[in-house]
Amino acid sequence: MRRIAVTGATGQLGTAFARLLPDATLLTRADLDLTDLDRIGLTLDRIQPDTLINCAAYTAVDAAEDDETTAYTVNATAVEAMAAWCGDHDARFVTFSTDYVFDGTATRPYVETDPTNPINAYGRTKAAGEHLAMAANPHSLIVRTSWVISATHHNFITAILERASQGPLEVVDDQQGRPTVADDLAAGALRALDADATGILHLTNQGTTTWYRLARKAVELAGLNPDLVQPTTSNRFPRPAPRPHWSVLGSERLDSLGLDPLPAWQESLSQVVKQILEGS
Ligand SMILES: NC(=O)c1ccc[n+]([C@@H]2O[C@H](COP(=O)([O-])OP(=O)(O)OC[C@H]3O[C@@H](n4cnc5c(N)ncnc54)[C@H](OP(=O)(O)O)[C@@H]3O)[C@@H](O)[C@H]2O)c1
Repeated sequence: MRRIAVTGATGQLGTAFARLLPDATLLTRADLDLTDLDRIGLTLDRIQPDTLINCAAYTAVDAAEDDETTAYTVNATAVEAMAAWCGDHDARFVTFSTDYVFDGTATRPYVETDPTNPINAYGRTKAAGEHLAMAANPHSLIVRTSWVISATHHNFITAILERASQGPLEVVDDQQGRPTVADDLAAGALRALDADATGILHLTNQGTTTWYRLARKAVELAGLNPDLVQPTTSNRFPRPAPRPHWSVLGSERLDSLGLDPLPAWQESLSQVVKQILEGS
C-alpha cells in the first residue's frame, strides 16, 4: 500500500486530497510548520512517505508584499527541502504553483515551457520554489493552477454569494483566467502522478473567464439575479500586490501524458454552488 503524506491538510486543496485519500497521513501547520526548516527532514524521516503531496503554501498574496521573507521560506526553501528529501528516499514529490509566476502580458494561454516573470512577491516566491524543487529533485511534479475555489472554505465564490445576498456589488472585469475547483485539481494531480508525470504541468478547469463573469455565473447558479453583479476595473480596487491581467494557463503536456483535461469551469462551479447552498 502507498504511504502518502499531505501537507497543508487544512487548506482548500489539502481538504480535497484528504477526501480522496482516506488513508493518507494529513499534516497540518501544527504537525509541520514549514517555517521550521529543521523539522521537515525529521518529520518526513518519522513518517517515511513514498509520496509527498505538498498543499501547504503562503497564499496571502497581498501580505506577501510586506513579508516576502516568510513567503520565500514556505514557498521556496521548504519546498526545496521536501523535494530533496523525496529525491534521497525514492519518494514521489508533488507540489503546486500558480499562474502568478507569469506577468500577464501574453495574448494566448501560457504553456508549461513559457518563461516566467512574476510581478508580485507571492509569484516570485512560487517561481523560486519551482526552480529549487526541480534542481533538488528532477523527478518532482509541479502542478501550476489558478483561481482555486471550493465549497469547503471561504473564497471568492463564498464571498460573492454573501455580498450578493445583501445587494448589488461590483467585480473586476479586466483580469482573465481559469477557475479551478479544488476537488477536480486533486483528482487530476493524482491521475498525473499515476501517469508518472514529472516537471511542470498546467492543470485548471477548462474555459476562460473574468472575475466579473465568474461572479455573475455563481450568483445565477445560486438562484439570485446576475444583474446584481456589475463590472468594474482593477484600478477601482487598488491592492498591495499587482495582479496579472491575463492569467490563462493552457497545457501542451496533457495530451502526451494521456491525461484528460479537467471539466469546464461552469460545470464544476455548479457543483460548488450546490454544495455551498446545501451547507456541505
Ligand atoms: N488559492 C488559489 O487561488 C491558488 C491559485 C494558484 C495556485 N494556488 C496554489 O495551490 C496550492 C493550494 O492552495 P489552497 O488554495 O489550498 O491554499 P489555502 O487554502 O490557503 O491553504 C494553504 C495551506 O497551507 C498551510 N500553511 C500556510 N503556511 C504554512 C506553514 N508555515 N507551515 C505549514 N502549513 C502552512 C495552511 O495552514 P493553516 O490553515 O494553518 O493556515 C493551509 O493548510 C498552493 O500551493 C497555492 O499556492 C492557489
